Amino acid sequence: MDKKSTKKDLRPFMADFDLMYGIMRNPDSQLVRLASSMRGHYADERALEELIARGDPVHYEVFEKTVPQKKGHLQFGISKTYPGTVGGECFMTKGHYHAVADTGEVYLCLRGEGYMLMKLSNGDSAVERFLPGNMVYVPPFWGHRSVCTSDEPLITFYVYPAEAGHNYGDIEKEGFPVRVFKRAGKVEIVPNKKG
Ligand code: F6R
Ligand code: ZN
Repeated sequence: MDKKSTKKDLRPFMADFDLMYGIMRNPDSQLVRLASSMRGHYADERALEELIARGDPVHYEVFEKTVPQKKGHLQFGISKTYPGTVGGECFMTKGHYHAVADTGEVYLCLRGEGYMLMKLSNGDSAVERFLPGNMVYVPPFWGHRSVCTSDEPLITFYVYPAEAGHNYGDIEKEGFPVRVFKRAGKVEIVPNKKG
């Protein structure tokens, strides 16, 4: 192969997905967040510590192809949030704003069910449902967190401007305005006392 045609130069390339299982077969990177990465995010801190002591299960994973974190490029990947609860609260991602705040993101649900919780720093908030085939549009400036409510992983394909970065801002302290619980198979969205 011509040296100029290597991936390093970011020639066009292909990512290989299994849409049936919501898997990227050839990711360049994998981020794994365990229960112990989630301290400060769930309402029931004691239940989280018990879960960590019982084996520290994976809460979510993110699979990506590497692209330059520069304006003009698009970062994309697969986010996989596992089923489970912490004191009844459904497993979820930490959630973030984008460091370049005026950048949006789209999330297409491939498998599983759940919600995207969203908020603006002025107090406005929104919740959209994830079901296979639903695409959630996260406009610029909106913080976003995925929550899995199904008995199988919630799997989404996402794309956003590659320069966006992550800003965890007030999220660890404030959370989102609502929390999602699942008790005896029933999903409930309740106001967050902290949010
Ligand atoms: C990127 C994006 C996703 C999340 C991923 C992990 O803008 O929204 O790739 O980074 O789902 O979520 P956090 O960053 O909240 O741990
Ligand atoms: Zn994002």
